[in-house]
Amino acid sequence: MHNGEKKSSNIFAVEHRIATEDRWQRNNHRSGILWFTGLSGAGKTTLALELERQLHLKGYQIYVLDGDNIRGGLNSDLGFSPEDRIENIRRIGEVATLFADAGFIVIAAFISPYRQDRRLARKILPSRFHEVYLNSELKTCEKRDPKGLYRKARLGEIPDFTGVSAPYEAPENPELVINTNDQPVANCLARLIDYAEREFGVPSALTGVA
Ligand code: ADX
Repeated sequence: MHNGEKKSSNIFAVEHRIATEDRWQRNNHRSGILWFTGLSGAGKTTLALELERQLHLKGYQIYVLDGDNIRGGLNSDLGFSPEDRIENIRRIGEVATLFADAGFIVIAAFISPYRQDRRLARKILPSRFHEVYLNSELKTCEKRDPKGLYRKARLGEIPDFTGVSAPYEAPENPELVINTNDQPVANCLARLIDYAEREFGVPSALTGVA
């Protein structure tokens, strides 16, 4: 049971002696969270990994948190019930914030199907949270079916499968929408790089705009 209830008392949080802005100076760029959301097969992992690679080559400190990877470790105790997905996203929101505090650009690539969960993740670091909607039609994702999961879900072999037997709530006001339905990967990537450089790039780091 994950009900977000705090179980520890007598806790005394400590202040870091290095401000996040000092880490920005060191890295020569600002940090923050690019929160990818979209259906399975919409291109989250593909675009996240390539964006990570290209921005790394440009000198950015950047790290991808990806659904399938995190579910193999930190969140291996969680499944796909609504309650477990809520907890999945809650933990990722916290981890992403730690990375952002450490000076990294974090790409969180999770279906994150519920608006309310994304809203809560945003609330942890509102000024540096960028919701990126990878918008692709269900029928396109289903046709791609890179892991063969839609086929299995249609056969009833996977319960609670997003888009088939579990809901996906599209963002209402995302900072960025990338149409991954019929745009080539290179175009999507170019827009993402452009956005990331604008938001996290050197000029604003130097002016210290938070
Ligand atoms: S989320 O809904 O809780 O955000 P997350 O992004 O962590 O999902 O994990 C999604 C990945 O888990 C999918 O890419 C897919 O490979 C796998 N998966 C396994 N079962 C399901 C399911 N029932 N619904 C969606 N994805 C599933």
